[in-house]
Amino acid sequence: MAFDPSLVAEIKSRADIVDIISSYINVIKKGRNYFAVCPFHDDHNPSLSISKDKNMFKCFVCGTSGDVFSFVSRYENITYSEAIKRVAEMIGYDDPRLHQNEFKVKVDESKATLYKCITDLATFYQYGLSTEEGQVAHQYLSERGLTDEQIAKFSLGYAFKDGSLSIDYLKRKEYSYKNIEDIGISLVKTSGMKDSNAGRVIFPIKDNNGQFVGFSARKLDNANKDDPKYVNTAETKIFSKGNILYNYDLAKNTMKHDGYLYVVEGFMDVFALDSIGVHSVVGLMGTAMTKTNVQTLKRANVEIRLCLDNDKAGQIAMMNIISMFDEAKINYRLVSDPNEICKDSDEILHKEGPERLNAYINTLVNPFNFALAYYTKTAPLATQADRYKVINHFTPLLVSIQNGLELNDYIYKLARVTGFEVNTIKDHVALAKKEKQKAESKQENFVYSEFTNTSKEQKTKMSRDMKYLKNAEKQLLGQMLINKEAVEFYESNVKYFSDELYRNIANFILDYAKSHQGIDAADLVTTISLSDMENKQELIDEIVAITMKDNPVETKSVLADYANEIKLRRDKIYQKDLLKQAFEGKSDEEKARLLDDYIKRTNK
Ligand code: UTP
Ligand code: MN
Repeated sequence: MAFDPSLVAEIKSRADIVDIISSYINVIKKGRNYFAVCPFHDDHNPSLSISKDKNMFKCFVCGTSGDVFSFVSRYENITYSEAIKRVAEMIGYDDPRLHQNEFKVKVDESKATLYKCITDLATFYQYGLSTEEGQVAHQYLSERGLTDEQIAKFSLGYAFKDGSLSIDYLKRKEYSYKNIEDIGISLVKTSGMKDSNAGRVIFPIKDNNGQFVGFSARKLDNANKDDPKYVNTAETKIFSKGNILYNYDLAKNTMKHDGYLYVVEGFMDVFALDSIGVHSVVGLMGTAMTKTNVQTLKRANVEIRLCLDNDKAGQIAMMNIISMFDEAKINYRLVSDPNEICKDSDEILHKEGPERLNAYINTLVNPFNFALAYYTKTAPLATQADRYKVINHFTPLLVSIQNGLELNDYIYKLARVTGFEVNTIKDHVALAKKEKQKAESKQENFVYSEFTNTSKEQKTKMSRDMKYLKNAEKQLLGQMLINKEAVEFYESNVKYFSDELYRNIANFILDYAKSHQGIDAADLVTTISLSDMENKQELIDEIVAITMKDNPVETKSVLADYANEIKLRRDKIYQKDLLKQAFEGKSDEEKARLLDDYIKRTNK
């Protein structure tokens, strides 16, 4: 943990969560509560509720919740500890302890050498571009429209044809062969170690903090078809191509202001957008979008504008990325060019000019319209089976659309593309909707499906007992979050919850209660946020959800009722002698508890 808890508590008590959130987004007051359009999902109504008294926020649609620091951390895409500092700055609070760990940033020593080594090499490549030999590379870049300003901004370079020169240079700077090997650019030849980038234009790749971590080296001459177009640094301790979005280090400075971030395929596309004044752009360095990339884009928290190449590979990749983005609930649109004259942004800029490029990158469509265009242009619907496939592709989306007008619009478009009758599609969607609802109600009962060998009647009884049990546990947990007496009650009478999430929260509260006078749910959330617990977000979400409900503090006799209810329901469940089935899918810890309880009961 980075900071002294008392310091964090002090900052939190001085920071008004409503004021802080208002400095980022528009907050509206309704009664005693405050609401805002949630910045963490594509929200159209104010679904984010902020409680001044409780010092918490929660979005009732996407479920994002936490305290003032979590909000700032998510919004600004910074760590929780950084958010504590940021909030302190915002309220004009300073304390030397806030700056202490700035000097103690731990750097892995072996990595530090690699970072230095690769930075020196990047400098050497930049120097290479200014030499006589490098003029051919400089001319290549100029011909492709790069200005000297851009060449400097992106630290572009040239690697001498003689691949031993960069190795010698690094040796002179006292790096070992091992160091050079570890930055992922070495080739071992009979004549000694050589630079794998030799004779190529260098695009240095930086991590999100602007630290050099690798290179991509383009061939100057397209004549030799066998040579790969780009040579990339091998995977090293400090470089993994799939984790990096090219230019994110610079784009992150402008994207919040712009409200968008373009994702293009290649380096040249990044430069093309940059040259028309669009600086919030990153390069995927190909068409493969990794989970790490998705996370980075999600945390960017601005509209993502996906703009891959206008070729088959690019368009197929966009279709795949749509599902990844949807799953991650990313707010995004896609560039869809109806003219498709050029392959990529770079080509549009140089063949058609800056205005056309500007128009192109602003031809943005939503995933529905993109997919429709895709099926019309790229994968035309030749057979009946193809047409069914398309209908099925869109069905889940259509089922989820609430707005009738919007739905109608989509259905008409889909009818046009597939040739199916409007009414046929309407019926199809209605049927799918019904099936979805059926599946959802089944899902509710699924929780109790471990009791599969029981009769139907027993099953409903069992599930009813489990529902009551869970409810009683939730009530007591609610009390434990506001009332220390309930914590003591839990410890001495109830001992454990059958629900794993509740049990984890209860354990945390027990720990917390040992070192605190009373129970403060908001403070508890801060403590959990600062811990390195694995599933902390789950705990936080549940605590905030329960606390925001405004439960009154109950009397001791009500607490006893909860405890009795919990015991009664547990007994009923165990008496059914279904322990074996109950074990299914449970953690060892949970099994031990179930067994322990069961033995105690049956030995009585
Ligand atoms: P493209 O083949 O579309 O190249 O690959 P490009 O960006 O248009 O390059 P130019 O205009 O021909 O110079 C897109 C991106 O995929 C990665 C590079 O990052 C490239 O910018 N790539 C491509 C590789 O890593 N290796 C390759 O061999 C090819
Ligand atoms: Mn290109």
